[in-house]
Amino acid sequence: MSKRYAVVLAAGKGTRMKSRLYKVLHPVGGKPMVQHVVDQIKEVQVDQIVTVIGHGAEKVKDQLGAEVNYVLQEEQLGTGHAVMQTEDLLGDLEGTTLVVCGDTPLISAETMEALLKHHEKENAKVTLLTAHAEDPFGYGRVIRKEDGTVSKIVEHKDATIHEQAVQEINTGTYCFDNKTLFEALKQVTNDNVQGEYYLPDVIEIVKEQNETVAAYQTPAFEETIGVNDRVALSEAERLMKKRINTKHMKNGVTIIDPQQTYITSDVKIGPDTVIYPGTVLSGTTVIGEECIIGPNTEIKDSQIGNETTIKQSVVHDSEVGDKVSIGPFAHIRPQSQLGNEIKIGNFVEVKKSKMDHGSKASHLSYIGDAEIGKEVNLGCGSITVNYDGQNKHLTKVEDGAFIGCNSNLIAPVTVGENAYVAAGSTITEDVPGEALSIARARQTNKEGYVSKIQEKQNNHRG
Ligand code: UD1
Ligand code: CA
Repeated sequence: MSKRYAVVLAAGKGTRMKSRLYKVLHPVGGKPMVQHVVDQIKEVQVDQIVTVIGHGAEKVKDQLGAEVNYVLQEEQLGTGHAVMQTEDLLGDLEGTTLVVCGDTPLISAETMEALLKHHEKENAKVTLLTAHAEDPFGYGRVIRKEDGTVSKIVEHKDATIHEQAVQEINTGTYCFDNKTLFEALKQVTNDNVQGEYYLPDVIEIVKEQNETVAAYQTPAFEETIGVNDRVALSEAERLMKKRINTKHMKNGVTIIDPQQTYITSDVKIGPDTVIYPGTVLSGTTVIGEECIIGPNTEIKDSQIGNETTIKQSVVHDSEVGDKVSIGPFAHIRPQSQLGNEIKIGNFVEVKKSKMDHGSKASHLSYIGDAEIGKEVNLGCGSITVNYDGQNKHLTKVEDGAFIGCNSNLIAPVTVGENAYVAAGSTITEDVPGEALSIARARQTNKEGYVSKIQEKQNNHRG
């Protein structure tokens, strides 16, 4: 196989997005568009990936890191000019160059591979990836000769009414014989409505040299959409969501309503997990098998074990074990570690805390900066008082302890193994293991006092 190279065009500003964020960095399915493109190219065997950067160059570099090479296009004079900037790196090489736009986030490795195969089979100098668009507005149109061969691409803005009626579009993905590409680019001019050096003009130039220009039409127009504005962005999001959800369902995950379930690209989910509507799973989240997630649950950058249920709750940057029950209406904040068979009930907030096997906080609690042992019961309304206005302090509750309802544990403080804290206590000192601690005012009952009060009130009125 001859050598293969790839060029990703990512220097444009994306004026039509009307955004401070550079176009190719807008996320689709939670991942920047240009990252999708690079991830797919990496699945096709190429010897080198070169990304053309310009607007937001540093940000694009931060995103893609060292996995690609970069060239800077200082002024954005068009897609042809952009590819020309790679000449120093690629110009002298023999082989095939795949060019992909950074704003086509749905393009798949399979389609790129099919394009490369077609290019090799046809022994072509240029092969372009085309698609049939119901609404071709804005795309370059593929103009074919009477014999069916491609003669040129006409940009929407340059097209005659007759040409605008053509529904076969240029997807912006091509492969070129590398040497032919750089020779032809030298002849591209900016004599067009936009005053830009168009990469697709290479096609007409090569064709006029009587070299073979081939076209591979993908049946999947949806894969090729170019995102130029927010309307197209939402369309790409819809399609990406469908692709991601379908993948999980094929892997054995039940998604009750895929239209109402938002899962970003890198999330992993085990089989027989059921996802209810209104669920948003994102980042590096990994969910085990046989879980029940949702409805209306948000889980970000978290690891969830097997057979765990999370309903109407938010979990961020945390680890949750097996057979855990969370919610409804719980909030698990960053750096929390919940072991197996934990129960977190309604209106419970956990932050930067560890809870070990079998412990429970079933109702209305705040657990922050705490280490909770095994089989601990935190009664309704238990609060770790972790913040003194300046610093956060640790609360420890050792195995088997029982914290009565409406108790304040004023950190730093430790409740020892199997200790009891009486309901309504405010604990300021350590409680030894096996002890019962009561820290509340003693109750006094004043017998018959109510009639005394009423008598006083009557006298006052009289
Ligand atoms: C381009 C094609 C059009 C095709 C469409 C497919 C040209 C002239 N037109 O149009 O035929 O139907 O893609 O989506 O190529 N870029 C640079 N430097 C530049 C200009 C652009 O790096 O100087 C990058 C952009 O960041 C973008 C990509 O090239 O990722 C495509 O540019 P864009 O302006 O979006 O081209 P379209 O008008 O969509
Ligand atoms: Ca575009």
